[in-house]
This record gives sequence, C-alpha cells and structure tokens, in this order.
Amino acid sequence: MSERTASRIVLDNQRYWEALAPHRKGEPVESVRSGSVLNENERAAVGDVRGRRVLQLACSVGDEALTFAQMGADVTAVDLAPSHLATGRAKAEALGLVVDFREQDMMKLDQDVTGFDLVFISWGGLCWAPDIDAWARLIAKRINPGGSLVISEHHPLWEVLTVAGDGHLSVSGDYFGSGRDGYADPLKAPEITRTLGVPDLPHRSFVWSIGSVVSAVLAAGMTVRSLQEFAEADMYPGLGDADACIPATYLLTAVR
Ligand SMILES: C[S@@+](CC[C@H](N)C(=O)[O-])C[C@H]1O[C@@H](n2cnc3c(N)ncnc32)[C@H](O)[C@@H]1O
Repeated sequence: MSERTASRIVLDNQRYWEALAPHRKGEPVESVRSGSVLNENERAAVGDVRGRRVLQLACSVGDEALTFAQMGADVTAVDLAPSHLATGRAKAEALGLVVDFREQDMMKLDQDVTGFDLVFISWGGLCWAPDIDAWARLIAKRINPGGSLVISEHHPLWEVLTVAGDGHLSVSGDYFGSGRDGYADPLKAPEITRTLGVPDLPHRSFVWSIGSVVSAVLAAGMTVRSLQEFAEADMYPGLGDADACIPATYLLTAVR
C-alpha cells in the first residue's frame, strides 16, 4: 500500500474514532489501581516493567498504559483520537500517575518516540494498521536491542466467524482479505457502537492473518519468542461449549 493511501485511511479512521471517543470511558480507575486491567497471560508476557521504557500503541483511554505506569514503568502512549487521550490524562491525574499521552499515528511516529524496552498493542489496536509490514518495520526500529514487542489481540479467525444461531458458525469475513469497510458482523465493531450506533463516517480496518503478522515481525528483523492462541468463553455468544475448541485471541511476543 502506498504511504498516501495509508495516510488517507488513517485520516478517515481518526474522524471515525473521534466521533466515538468522547463516549468511551474504559475501565473505572479502581481497576487500574487494583491491577485488573491486564490479564494473567499479558502480565507474564510483559514481565517486570519497573524502570523500563514502555510504548503503548493505539492506547485508547489509557487503561493499560496507566497500568504499566502503576507497575513502575516510564510510559509513552499514542492514539489518534484526542478525546481518548484527554480521558487518559484525566485518569492519570486521578491516579497520580505519569504517562506521556501523545496524539500520533502509529504508522508515523515522531522521531523522539523511540528507545523502548517494550512495545505493547492490544484488543482491537492492530486492526487499524493499514499496512502490517510497514507497521512492523517502523516499530522494530523504535525498540532497543533486546527489547520486546507484545501483541495481545483478537484472533483473526474470530474476526471472520459469526455465530449463526443454534450453535453454528458462518464465515462473515475474509481471513486473507485484510481490508474491510465497516463490519458484516456488528459484534466485531468497536463495542461502543452497540450502544451509540455506527457513526456515518468512512472507516477501514484490517484483518491481519496470523501468518501475515508473524511474517511481518520476522521480516522486520525480530525473533518470535512465543505465539499463544486462546479460547474465550464470552467471545462467541450462542455457540455453546464448542467455543472452547476455536481461538478467540492470541498473544505474540517477539524480541529485537
Ligand atoms: C479498540 S481501541 C484499542 C483498544 C485498547 N487496547 C483498549 O483496550 O482500550 C482502538 C484504538 O485505536 C486507535 N487508532 C486507530 N488507528 C490508529 C492509528 N493509526 N494510530 C494510533 N491509534 C490508532 C483509535 O483511536 C482507538 O483508540
């Protein structure tokens, strides 16, 4: 994809997200205080972040970034939506924590957004990168030698499977197709659209297959240390016990 096309998509996506962002508040600050924002697998993947420089991409309202700060990290967090960042800053103030929240496109980070021991992206963040190879190349350059990239995401198979009543699945997207305008299955859209409705604005997200993510990370010169896939009980509502037999999320750890 050309840089120009990617920039146009990002601009559309920024308008879309900013229409949703004032209404998205994330977790209550108590959840950050109690440390319940990251799950057990994510905690194991990021390890001890005390004194380390952490970058969170597509940080939204900053709950995970604030959790890293609470764990003792020096945190920078970037997002496209100014209202999300404003909510993050207000939460930081309420918690007495410091996070450098920056309005940035994760495809074009400022030169000084660099030198990180850990880069983290999660839960509906990576699908907004219009070009997975360009994204991985840029991010790898911003990680210190020996530092890590942790991706904790919706599984691309989950992105394209829809529960079609009485415990059956139908294919509602293209695992290999990557770009999609809108969502055939409203359950795959940002959660806030279920209460707020979908803003009448163009937006484009991407289904990055497991193969495309691993290949992009390897081509960027990183070493994949682990790739775990998980079933999640509440992510295929209506499927019944079979939801334990298919992946809903994945967690990839790579080292530069
Ligand atoms: C579903 S949220 C991320 C979820 C976050 N991990 C959480 O749990 O709240 C997606 C975020 O990606 C941001 N975003 C979309 N495209 C982006 C881009 N190119 N650069 C930075 N942030 C982006 C949106 O503004 C939105 O806040």
